[in-house]
Amino acid sequence: MLIETKRLKVRTFKLEDWQDLQEYVSQKSVMTYERDWDTSDASCQEKVKYFSEGDTMWAVELKDIGKMIGHVYFGQVQPKDFMEWTIGYIFNPKFYGNGYATEAAKAVMQYGFDELGVHRVFAKCNPDNTPSWKLLERLSMEREGCSMKRVCFIKDEKGQPIWWDEYQYAILQEEWPVFSCTVHK
Ligand SMILES: CC(C)(COP(=O)(O)OP(=O)(O)OC[C@H]1O[C@@H](n2cnc3c(N)ncnc32)[C@H](O)[C@@H]1OP(=O)(O)O)[C@@H](O)C(=O)NCCC(=O)NCCS
Repeated sequence: MLIETKRLKVRTFKLEDWQDLQEYVSQKSVMTYERDWDTSDASCQEKVKYFSEGDTMWAVELKDIGKMIGHVYFGQVQPKDFMEWTIGYIFNPKFYGNGYATEAAKAVMQYGFDELGVHRVFAKCNPDNTPSWKLLERLSMEREGCSMKRVCFIKDEKGQPIWWDEYQYAILQEEWPVFSCTVHK
């Protein structure tokens, strides 16, 4: 699967993407708000194989240089007949600040609304993760609320959970401003 935008190919993962994936998921600053990943060579190779066989992880390639610069997660949640998807993203910091993550997320959401019949998309993020919620606002998503102490990815030195608050953003199909991109099936 491939969605083409002005600057990007948003596509199925390929086995050869593993080093580009490893380049950014192995950086602590990139993974501050994510669960820990095993970023060994073998694990990144396995992950890329797994992603390439599914339909929820989209690799984002910068057309100019042919490099995979990040990925977008777009997956349906249960129950399936509610037609609700959730979106997430992780990008290589070398390419921050150019609107690439926004462009890729718009492409995937356009595909979802046009081709999958998506009714609603939501996303969650830590209130301290300003680049993430700013991106959600560029996608025209609305902040629906903030759940207090909802998430725990890490524990303190005494083994006690460190709780994080969590913003929820969402958008409905009828609120979506159409984005121009080309889907190659
Ligand atoms: C979240 C994340 C993808 C955002 O990256 P980003 O570079 O800020 O997002 P974009 O690629 O959309 O770029 C937007 C920035 O480029 C600027 N920009 C430049 N050209 C642009 C264009 N053509 N279109 C849109 N924005 C553009 C925007 O003004 C914005 O900068 P600002 O925040 O200083 O105003 C990135 O911080 C990341 O990968 N973080 C680590 C993983 C993570 O936390 N994921 C989310 C977990 S909830």
